[in-house]
Amino acid sequence: MSSPPRREDSQASRPPITLMKLAEKRALGEPIVMVTAYDHPSALAVEAAEVDMVLVGDSAANNVLGYPDTVPITVEELLMLSAAVRRGLKTPLLVGDLPFGSYEASDAQAIATAHRFVKEAGCDAVKLEGGGAMAERARAIVRAGVPVMGHVGLTPQTATALGGYRAQGRTAARARQVLEEAVALQEAGCFAIVFEAIPSEVTDLIMERMEIPVIGIGAGPSTDGQVLVLHDLLGIHGGFQPKFVKRYADIRGEMVRGLEAYAEDVRTRRFPGKEHTYGIAPEEMQRLKEQVPHRQRA
Ligand code: KIV
Repeated sequence: MSSPPRREDSQASRPPITLMKLAEKRALGEPIVMVTAYDHPSALAVEAAEVDMVLVGDSAANNVLGYPDTVPITVEELLMLSAAVRRGLKTPLLVGDLPFGSYEASDAQAIATAHRFVKEAGCDAVKLEGGGAMAERARAIVRAGVPVMGHVGLTPQTATALGGYRAQGRTAARARQVLEEAVALQEAGCFAIVFEAIPSEVTDLIMERMEIPVIGIGAGPSTDGQVLVLHDLLGIHGGFQPKFVKRYADIRGEMVRGLEAYAEDVRTRRFPGKEHTYGIAPEEMQRLKEQVPHRQRA
């Protein structure tokens, strides 16, 4: 039997983060804090830490579902994770990531998927990757009533076409393309954009043309906010770590240490102790023994 879920009401006084609040933070030059979360306990921790925006990223594919990359994750899988995160959040803005293959084909497909994230999982907004035709998909979703966050630079869903998981915008031509994609997404009505893995100087230049909050990941310090993957920043997994990640904890190490200590206690019969066991009134035990004769254990 595990312990019952605990409500953490300590942040009840913080007002919810709205799109207007994000724009205000940008205008005031107050950095916006964004992080990914994929489950209910993480959402409670993120809420307690007073993060501004939470992304149920398709990076759940490799971080929690064991896929090799973000391509295979499905709408249903992301909806289930998003709904779990929703149940743990009160104040941050919740963004659901539209997975690969769920929005590219047509405006109708993009709108239908975005509506599912809002209606079935309680997301406040959705995110999609890429510019070009994707700016048109973003425009269609915004017109259908769902706020959209764009994502340019390294877009993992199409990493193969970009030459792998590598920084983008390192030639003038590609940097210009990233700039044009960002501007197109802004013009399409996106409320914010993620810039991923772009040289800082290129980011600085693009920032001069941005009028909406830009959240960076490996894009340098001049963006309006930063996002990191929860599992990277807390050290929940021991795998590859991109250059742009700063690790703030060693949760995996703590988990392994805890599990090793538990295994040792079980093997040496130090666990369970008396404090972990239930009692029975002596007269009831006596009655039981009279009903069930003692036998040597096989
Ligand atoms: O899925 C994800 O985690 C993301 C972030 C890297 C922004 O898209």
